[in-house]
This record gives sequence, structure tokens and C-alpha cells, in this order.
Amino acid sequence: MVQTQRAVGDEGMLMVANAMMLLVANAMMLLVALAIVLILLLKVVCKIIWVPLKVQHVLKKQGINGPGYSPILNNTAKIRRLMIAEAESKSSCFTHNHETVVSRVMPHYYNWSTIYGKNFLYWFGPKPRVAIADPNLIKEILLNTTSFEKIKHNPLSKLLLGDGLVGLDGHKWAIHRRISNHAFNMEIVKGWISEMVDSTTKLLDKWEDVTSARDQFEMDVHKEFHKLSADIISRTAFGSSFEEGKRIFQLQNQQVSLVLEAIRSVYIPGFRFLPTKKNRLRKRLEKETRDAIRMLLNNCSRTANNSKSLLSLLMHPIKNQDDKQEAMDIEEVVDECKTFYFAGKETTANFLTWAFLLLALHQEWQSKAGEEVVRACRNGIPTAENIADLKIVSMILNETL
Ligand code: HEM
Repeated sequence: MVQTQRAVGDEGMLMVANAMMLLVANAMMLLVALAIVLILLLKVVCKIIWVPLKVQHVLKKQGINGPGYSPILNNTAKIRRLMIAEAESKSSCFTHNHETVVSRVMPHYYNWSTIYGKNFLYWFGPKPRVAIADPNLIKEILLNTTSFEKIKHNPLSKLLLGDGLVGLDGHKWAIHRRISNHAFNMEIVKGWISEMVDSTTKLLDKWEDVTSARDQFEMDVHKEFHKLSADIISRTAFGSSFEEGKRIFQLQNQQVSLVLEAIRSVYIPGFRFLPTKKNRLRKRLEKETRDAIRMLLNNCSRTANNSKSLLSLLMHPIKNQDDKQEAMDIEEVVDECKTFYFAGKETTANFLTWAFLLLALHQEWQSKAGEEVVRACRNGIPTAENIADLKIVSMILNETL
């Protein structure tokens, strides 16, 4: 009987001890979970409050001010978007005045530089950006390639430029750059001039037909220049016609508006993997663009007489200063092609359009440029040898840039 009572007592003690151990274990687990939550919270606080405020404080001491940082209110990315939307809603004013142009194209930049000075600090979410307009500082930054890295772009912008030169850094950038420099060698570019003249002559003939048929007409020169630069890139770089390259440009155009929308917002990590309608469209456009470029690459490697085209030069290995072979694989070449399609067409078309607008506003320069072309080039058709003689044209183009 006594033995049975003792056994029951021992069992009770054991149960109490077990229960206590369970409680202690639970309490410890709760403490560990609380500690993890606390650490994560501290990390978040550090990242979105402490570090930005510290950066702001340090730069302020160096005389660099800007729209104050606030993690929730006064989000400068949002203000920037609103300013851009407001500027774009106003009708365009065609003047070469620097202030008018900047206040329309980059209203946030214009407004903040007026308030805070040429160099100022602004925010992309918790990420600081220092805008620099002092030429000496710009030179120092551009020459110092070790301390200053490229801005990390919104991952969605890769859809437009791929993993091409614009987004690359370090060793990989150096290899791609050496191969691209080799392909864009001045002698090779000069060899493309007859193709450029050919495309331009076709466009001028078309304009001639339109002007001779009607007294008054309206033409969207910007669209015409987009087609012209697309045609020239297709022919010189990709050894194809505008018609063949057209699909790639159409796909890229659709991607441009989607990517612009994305890069003007603060990027939320992981967002690009969500199967939203726009993300699915971005992915489909990316796949179709890559497939189309791959097809051009296959055609190019089959045609032996295309050895001077950009594509064949990009696919060709080169030797570096240590006599080692450097080459890009097919997907890397596709990435660079995406960059050239985009970086080459948009910039050139916008540049030519602005140059024409300025020539329309300053017709005395239009006459001087025309006279120079007639003087320097036989039949008004430029060749590689004429480039050095086109001084007024070069001045006008430099002023436009
Ligand atoms: C008027 C015409 C052009 C202008 C104003 C222009 C402007 C620029 C600017 C400002 C950059 C520096 C971007 C940065 O690092 O953030 C750049 C880079 C680049 N551009 Fe252009 N560009 C023009 C034409 C072209 C053409 C025709 C091509 C090719 C077909 C091209 C291909 C590139 C590439 C590959 C880079 C990246 C270079 C590197 O990081 O090593 N651009 N361009």
C-alpha cells in the first residue's frame, strides 16, 4: 500500500518536473523568437531610419542638403513621380534654353537644384542619391573607377538592357567593353557610312515625294527618325533590314513603357517574381526579344560575307594584353544586342529630332550647314573622308547634345 502510494507520488513528481521543463523550453523558445523578431526589427529600423538619417547628417555637415528624408511621409520617390506627371501634362515648349528643358524633362532635379543648390541629396526609398552638377566633381567621379560603382538599377530594367554593358561592372564589364570597342572600331564604323547614306537617301526621297505632292503637310519627324535609326542599326549592326529587325524594335518599344513605369517607382524586392498581368507581359516580351535576336545571330553565323557586321564581330573572340583569348557566349551577345538596339535607337532618334527642331528655330544655321555639306561633299553625299570637313555640322550636333 505504502509502496503503491510512493510510486504514485514519484509519478506525480515526474509529471510536474516534465511540465516545468516543457514550460521552461516554451519560455526559452519564446525568448529566442522574441530576440529574432527584435534583431530583425532593429535591422529594419537601422536600415530605414538610422542609416539614412546618419547619411543625411554627414552630408549636411559637408554642405549637401536636399528634401529631408522621411521613411513614411514625404517619400521623395513619390514626389518625383508627381512632379514628372505634372510636367508631362503641360504642353511642350520648344526652346533650347537649358532651364526650360531640364524643368520639363527632370522637374524634380530642376526644383531641388533651385532650392538646395547644384549638388543635393535625394532619396529612392531608403537609398540616398547625391546629384552632382559641379564639373570638377563629375570629372573626379568619372576618372575614379575604383571608389565609385555604377548605380544598381531596378532589376526590372534588365528586361530592356539585359546583362549588357550599361548594367555590368568589374571584370565582366571589362571583357564585354574590350570586345565591343573592337567591334565599334572607327575604321569599321566608317565602313558602315555607305549603308547609313543609303537609308538616309531613301528617307529624303520619301520626304521629297510628300513635299512635292502637297503645298501644306504635317510630318512627325520624330517617328521618321526612329524608323531611320532603327533601319541603320538593323543594316549596319545586324546585317538585316528594318523589316527583319522591326519585330525586335516593336517588342522593345512595348518593354520600354513597362520598364519606365517600373524604374520610376521604388522597387519592392521580389516584386518581379509575382505573376501580375504586367510582370507576365514583361516576361513574354523578354522571351520573344531574345528568341528573335538569337535567330538573327544564327542567320549571321551562317552568312560568311557578313564578317564586318557588329554581330559577327561580337561573336568573334579577341586577344587581351596578356595574349589570352576573351569571348562572349551566345546569351551574353544577346544581352549586348539588346543594349545596342535600345541604347542606339532611342538616343540617336531623339538626338536627330532635337537637332532638327533647333535648325527649324535657327534657320540661319540651317543655311550655313546646308552650304557646308554642298561645299564639302560631292553631290551632297557624305563619305568617310568628308567627316573632318563638316565643321559647322559638328558644331551644331555638339550644341544639340
Ligand atoms: C546621341 C546618341 C547617344 C547618346 C546621347 C548616348 C548617351 C549615353 C550615355 C549618357 C551613356 C552612359 C550611361 C551610364 O553609364 O549610365 C551611354 C552608354 C552607353 N551607350 Fe550610348 N549614347 C548614344 C548613342 C549610342 C549608340 C548609337 C550605341 C550603340 C549602338 C550606344 C551604346 C551605349 C552603350 C553600350 C553604353 C554603355 C557603355 C559602358 O558602360 O561601357 N549609345 N550612352
